[in-house]
Amino acid sequence: MKRIEIRKPDDWHLHLRDGEMLKGVLPHSAAHFARAIIMPNLVPPVVRASDAVAYRERIMAALPKGLAFEPLMTLYLTETTDPDDVAAAFHHGIATAVKLYPAGATTNSASGVRDIAKVTAMLERMAEIGMPLCVHGEVTDASIDIFDREAVFIDRVLDPLRRKIPALKIIMEHVTTSQGVDYVRSADTLLGATITTHHLIINRNAILAGGIRPHYYCLPVAKRESHRLALREAATSGDRRFFLGTDSAPHVDPLKECACGCAGVFSATNTMACLAHVFEEDNALDRLEAFASLNGPAFYGLAPNEARMTLVRRDEAVDYPEKIETGAGPVTLFNPMFPIHWEVETA
Ligand code: DOR
Ligand code: ZN
Repeated sequence: MKRIEIRKPDDWHLHLRDGEMLKGVLPHSAAHFARAIIMPNLVPPVVRASDAVAYRERIMAALPKGLAFEPLMTLYLTETTDPDDVAAAFHHGIATAVKLYPAGATTNSASGVRDIAKVTAMLERMAEIGMPLCVHGEVTDASIDIFDREAVFIDRVLDPLRRKIPALKIIMEHVTTSQGVDYVRSADTLLGATITTHHLIINRNAILAGGIRPHYYCLPVAKRESHRLALREAATSGDRRFFLGTDSAPHVDPLKECACGCAGVFSATNTMACLAHVFEEDNALDRLEAFASLNGPAFYGLAPNEARMTLVRRDEAVDYPEKIETGAGPVTLFNPMFPIHWEVETA
């Protein structure tokens, strides 16, 4: 048996949803993570400061007694977002960041941005006040192959945006390509990236080879193996620009297992155990803390957590459920396709 102790991690990209789903999934994240950046793609989206206040209250009301968890709220950027409202939300600690979804890029992104020029004033204001922008980095142009959409986004949208507003702090959410990794590495302190657990583990074969497996379908879609290896290298390198954002994104099974299934992998329950496996495999267990607990807060300008987490490697494989039950219905848990020997030790 092996054990490691790290500072308690944070999840810098998390979907908690609302209502019964929120109640069902929140305990899984709150059990392991001290804080999380909460994605705002509800229906309707979390656009105004008042929406974030109300959503935060619903999250806190759904939190089981005895669990400490701090939701860091984000606001969903629309072309009509009010810069004063966003700035006030940031100043009062109501919102930590703004999320840019290109309209049509992913789940509930219809109210997102079609024309980036329409949000330039908003983004300039954010640069002025030091408020970070979380970016879903994929173009939505139907003529661009889905596997190329991240790389093309960097060239067409992200790089021009960074040149136009160099003082804007940007997080490329869930990078999935070597181009994404290289681009982040080419930049200075104002560009960071989250990496999900599942993109460190699966490539596109998991979705498509030997049968179609909808529970591995997410956006950005997993790419070929060389990209997964580039992500592994970035995550396990200790480089302060890369940090954990699980993008745990629950959908009930009937919405995944159908003719046009939703994008999203739910991984909150076993994410830390899977990561310990990945870092151990790459002889980088000593850098798991940087990736999961230190680099994220440093990028956001927050202190790391004082609380600690112990991960234990059992001789026998640990049983994780195939799915969790929520009041909204069953949600399948990410299956990494290897036996998991690690688990988070509970006090
Ligand atoms: O796979 C994904 N699921 N990617 C996203 O960008 C959104 C998320 C969701 O909300 O389900
Ligand atoms: Zn997401």
